[in-house]
Amino acid sequence: SVLTDLIYGGSNAVAGLTEGAVNDAIAKYGEDKKVAMPDTAYFLPTIYAATGVKVSKLGDLPACVGVLKSLISNKEDLGEALNAGLATAVGAEIIEALKYVDNADPYAEDSGIGFVPDPVIRSLGVPLVTGDIPGVAVVLGKADNAEDVVTVVKDYQSKGIMTFLIGDVIEQCAEGGVKIGLDFRVVPLGHDVTAVIHVVTVAIRAALIFGNVTPGDLPGLLKYTKERVPAFVNTFGALNEVVVSAGAGAIALGFPVVVDVDLGENQVPGALESVLDHSMTVKKSLELRNIKIKVTELPIPVAFASAFEGEIIRRGDMQVEFSSHKAPTCELVQTCNADDIEDHKITIIGKDLDELEQGQTFALATYVQVAGAKMQPDFEPVIERKIHAWYNYMEGVMHTGQRNQIRVRVSKAAYEAGLRLTHFAEVLYNMIMDEFDIVVDKCQVTIVTDTDKVQELLDTVAMPTYEKRDERLETLTDESVDQFYTCTLCQSFAPSHCCVVTPERLGLCGAVSWLDAKATKELNPTGPCQPISKEGCEDEVKGIYPDVNRMVAEATQGALEKVTLYSIMEDPMTSCGCFECICGIEPFSNGVIIANREYAGMTPLGMTFGELASMTGGGVQTPGFMGHGRHFIASKKFMSAEGGFERIVWMPKELKDDVAERLNKSAKEKYGIDNFTDMIADETVATDEESLMAFLQEKNHPVLGLDPIM
Ligand code: SF4
Ligand code: NI
Ligand code: NI
Repeated sequence: SVLTDLIYGGSNAVAGLTEGAVNDAIAKYGEDKKVAMPDTAYFLPTIYAATGVKVSKLGDLPACVGVLKSLISNKEDLGEALNAGLATAVGAEIIEALKYVDNADPYAEDSGIGFVPDPVIRSLGVPLVTGDIPGVAVVLGKADNAEDVVTVVKDYQSKGIMTFLIGDVIEQCAEGGVKIGLDFRVVPLGHDVTAVIHVVTVAIRAALIFGNVTPGDLPGLLKYTKERVPAFVNTFGALNEVVVSAGAGAIALGFPVVVDVDLGENQVPGALESVLDHSMTVKKSLELRNIKIKVTELPIPVAFASAFEGEIIRRGDMQVEFSSHKAPTCELVQTCNADDIEDHKITIIGKDLDELEQGQTFALATYVQVAGAKMQPDFEPVIERKIHAWYNYMEGVMHTGQRNQIRVRVSKAAYEAGLRLTHFAEVLYNMIMDEFDIVVDKCQVTIVTDTDKVQELLDTVAMPTYEKRDERLETLTDESVDQFYTCTLCQSFAPSHCCVVTPERLGLCGAVSWLDAKATKELNPTGPCQPISKEGCEDEVKGIYPDVNRMVAEATQGALEKVTLYSIMEDPMTSCGCFECICGIEPFSNGVIIANREYAGMTPLGMTFGELASMTGGGVQTPGFMGHGRHFIASKKFMSAEGGFERIVWMPKELKDDVAERLNKSAKEKYGIDNFTDMIADETVATDEESLMAFLQEKNHPVLGLDPIM
């Protein structure tokens, strides 16, 4: 058929190009020249996942070209032709990898970013499982009319879809005013069509990271991407055979392709479809992947989407700012008697945006009062923390901080579009009633900009409430509650993973505290957070509970039988892959090092965060490695089975500074050590074993007196 001919034409062309490029590179650099994608533990991910081969030097590539060619049968059969599409993917991966030979940043001159590092993929775990990112769009080509692709991409952005751009659509979108960047969920990959591999390997590494798919298990890989990665492809403009064969590769991975040219009878329903009317492209694409977008209609004059969360508003672009640096601020959600508040009552006290002087900084209080039969004070901070996200979701609004330490900026563009403080209140009212309707029956919102009134609210209502809450958090220990919770949210990507969330050990993603889990259970009784009884505790220090074991076994369909809550060696808690930090044993010191996802440098174990992270994940127990949240580090339960956080010998400086106050306090209380973090090395003093040991000896780190960990 025309279609299979096109696919084979493209695959054979790519095969030829790849073979030539590999031969040229070997002739130029020799077989032993290193070849690697930047910041990944998965080699050339497509080849590694599909065949198990760990490409590390140019001499490894001719065999891969052989595999690639064997995938192209040239037989008149669609299934066979889709395999040839995978060959195109392998070829594209090799061609792209060769760009990185002897060049750390081959994309410096391109408007695309090229290869996507592992830590970025890990950071996408939580927004994907919560549905915050409901799907992944791959937009490729050059639109005949630039407005068409601009409209489509803006539509995806407004729906929170993560969009990857390849080809001239990048400039078309940029020129059309699309806000571009990882933070805006519109990611330009590159101009060559082979750059499409950089989104393909995102899906493939998701299978390796979260899905625990065995490298070399091609059917398992294809099943994972098809069932669990909600991606699809849109092409713009005329198709050539290379694009068509790349599309065949996408289809083989389970990603439907929507093109904007008429393929007539060559369409493959459900997999390859023509949509000529661009106003239908988004709808059709989402339907094909069965992606449902939850829409909350908000009565505001600007866009509201998670894609605007990372938006930065510079001083020169701002209409006004509210900041705790210059004026009192607070944000508070408080439970009230139903009789004392009026549902949907919105009050603005003080000047609104149109009365506040442009370019200046003011006071701001956001005071939300809620009432409901099922409302509990424990849910207040859970709702309150969402104010940050919801304010940020407004296009042209930037929010940072929480409680009495906040900054809010409103852009001139948003102001000119008509945005006022009543809209802020409407957003909160509508979102609270949407997400927390099970516990909130009535909600009223008061926004204050009058400095004296804000100060009064801060002093008389907000601060006392924060203090009371902190007291509650202080006493909220694993001993003081009678239930823990499961969290199985990540099972959509990591089917055999289950977190156990306790007051002192939050979910490894850092996003689910015990209070969050408790609220989730109330909001969604049969949902991902189910209570675990603490009865019959077998070992308090190690954290062995019969019901923990029973619940994780149930939640993972028997994949996991035992979890010891506070041990890194004995049945440690598993990881899905989206952990904030990875902790690993450092054998020379008998201690452990911790690296956070943001840290891109080397650790004394000779591994980066990404490499350490690849040692665990996919719901598998790996003694000696443990994924966890930042907050867990200062907990007295942190690997208490092995002696506790006294074992920590190294952390990146940023992480150490972040946890210092709490960690030092805990160290004083638990071990009587002053300024414990001064004894912990970081990258400024040690990135190898020798300098680490020298530092620990110089500081007389307590780990040197402990028993061997293994
Ligand atoms: Fe995923 Fe665990 Fe976080 Fe739940 S608590 S979202 S399962 S990482
Ligand atoms: Ni915003
Ligand atoms: Ni996860």
